[in-house]
Amino acid sequence: MDLRAVRGDITEADVDVIVNAANPGLLGGGGVDGAIHRAAGPAVLAECRTIVARLPGHRLPRGQAVATTAGRLPARWIVHTAGPIWSASRDHSAVLRSCYAESLRVADELGARSVAFPAISAGIYGWPVEDAAGQAVAGVRATAVDHVVEVRFVLFSDPVLAAFEAALSG
Ligand code: APR
Repeated sequence: MDLRAVRGDITEADVDVIVNAANPGLLGGGGVDGAIHRAAGPAVLAECRTIVARLPGHRLPRGQAVATTAGRLPARWIVHTAGPIWSASRDHSAVLRSCYAESLRVADELGARSVAFPAISAGIYGWPVEDAAGQAVAGVRATAVDHVVEVRFVLFSDPVLAAFEAALSG
């Protein structure tokens, strides 16, 4: 599996699966969640509503992942995951790694060959970027796949790109 970090807008990534840094409610938000829903169109939100209505407590547990159509995006599917919110007192690292591992597992089960990830939890959820990059790479590297041959971390700024490049070279 080839892992790489690139600078860009994930809604333009030419991959089979785009991973969305959503929230447990799955009904959209700001950041990359908002960008993906804006670009993908209403069909994605409609499918999210259907999925979340069936979940216990109508919430996706943090660290888990679900797939929907990609709507108007060039990808074939969107995999939505809910990252952990940064806490200086409680270690949620395993939940963040699980976001990557579970999203990759769901994408692989769909038969995806290429997957694009944003820097999950590294924005509104406040996770320190360097550590977020390390957890991302560890979560992907720890996950066995049958179909996925390319994982692309699509970063929205140069500092975040640099953090992921450092994590990949480590
Ligand atoms: N393409 C790639 N990356 C992007 C894009 C984009 N179009 N837009 C934002 N990002 C980057 C941010 O700069 C950040 O590095 O995605 C990373 C994750 O930031 P957030 O989108 O804020 O996600 P997160 O920190 O996981 O917070 C999730 O924010 O948008 C809400 O509904 C979402 O409640 C959830 C929370």
